[in-house]
Amino acid sequence: MKILGIETSCDETGVAIFDTETNSIVSEKLFSQASKHSEYGGVVPELASRDHLKKLIPLIRMTIEESGFDIKDIDGIAYTAGPGLRGPLLIGASTAKAVALSLNKPSVGVHHMEAHLLINLLENPSPSFPFLTLLISGGHCLLINTKALGEYEIIGQTLDDAVGEAFDKVAKILELGYPGGPKIEALAKKGNPKAFNFPRPMTDKDNLDFSFSGLKTAVFYEYKKLSKISEKTKADIAASFQEAVADTLLLKTKKALSKNDLKEVVIGGGVASNGCIREKLVSGLEDQTIYFPPIERCTDNGAMIAYAGSFHLNTGKFDKSLEIKPRWPLSELKHG
Ligand code: KG4
Ligand code: ZN
Repeated sequence: MKILGIETSCDETGVAIFDTETNSIVSEKLFSQASKHSEYGGVVPELASRDHLKKLIPLIRMTIEESGFDIKDIDGIAYTAGPGLRGPLLIGASTAKAVALSLNKPSVGVHHMEAHLLINLLENPSPSFPFLTLLISGGHCLLINTKALGEYEIIGQTLDDAVGEAFDKVAKILELGYPGGPKIEALAKKGNPKAFNFPRPMTDKDNLDFSFSGLKTAVFYEYKKLSKISEKTKADIAASFQEAVADTLLLKTKKALSKNDLKEVVIGGGVASNGCIREKLVSGLEDQTIYFPPIERCTDNGAMIAYAGSFHLNTGKFDKSLEIKPRWPLSELKHG
């Protein structure tokens, strides 16, 4: 089975083809709109929709061409049905439906966060159920007891800002531009992570929830307090903020492991591409087997949608109508 995957939930237009016979992604293309949104300091939904509309069909053509297959060889189409921005989701869903209808093939709407989670199963070696998942993206921060395919028990989540959102907001405070995560990571390399003692929010609580908005506010007040801000001080703030996030994620993940009998840990989402966070989790969880997707598959991409779609299409699940879900809790996802 060859599955065409389409991702348009935010500001990346991603397309890929997954082949179940070879269990591999045979071709993939990505167009990032980040530079377009940078001047506004964040994603402008209307601009994102228009860009998806412009880029999606050419990317589908290029992906099919690169695969060496004919479009008629495609057996099904998977697209992100949610959660995400309404306009961008609609562009992806309606394009996927149109392609499916023209080929007389099934299409299926995929949960974006399930796709971030499942892409780890494509790696070799790969995790086996049950495992603990930490999903850290621009819209989510979730700890999940991942019992089986489609059985996702949320055991911890953010009460306010998502972790990527905190990176983006702190980058805005430091006037680094959008998207904030990679900019903070680059600047932090030149800074001292011990220079500022920022809070590790909610790590003194027994629960598994997160809260990043107080940490962002702590950075804001520290920054405003400084009369002269050199590049070195900015780098120290970036490094100290990143260290506080990494410590918090590690402490909560450890707590989740101590409360649940799970041996393997899977990390996913855009923030999982952060080198400091990856290192901290690997060294802090040395008794566990820990899995990350390759860096380019942490942030949004079509490969994870094609792959996640294969699990649904394989069981004969397909859409009868066009439905997107801009808000869609992972716990409400149904398989089969
Ligand atoms: O998974 P993703 O591409 O989109 C969502 O599903 O939200 O994640 C995007 C988020 C953004 O907030 C971005 O700043 C953050 O991931 N991010 C990073 C890094 N690369 C992307 N955060 C920290 N360090 C990075 N290197
Ligand atoms: Zn994502």
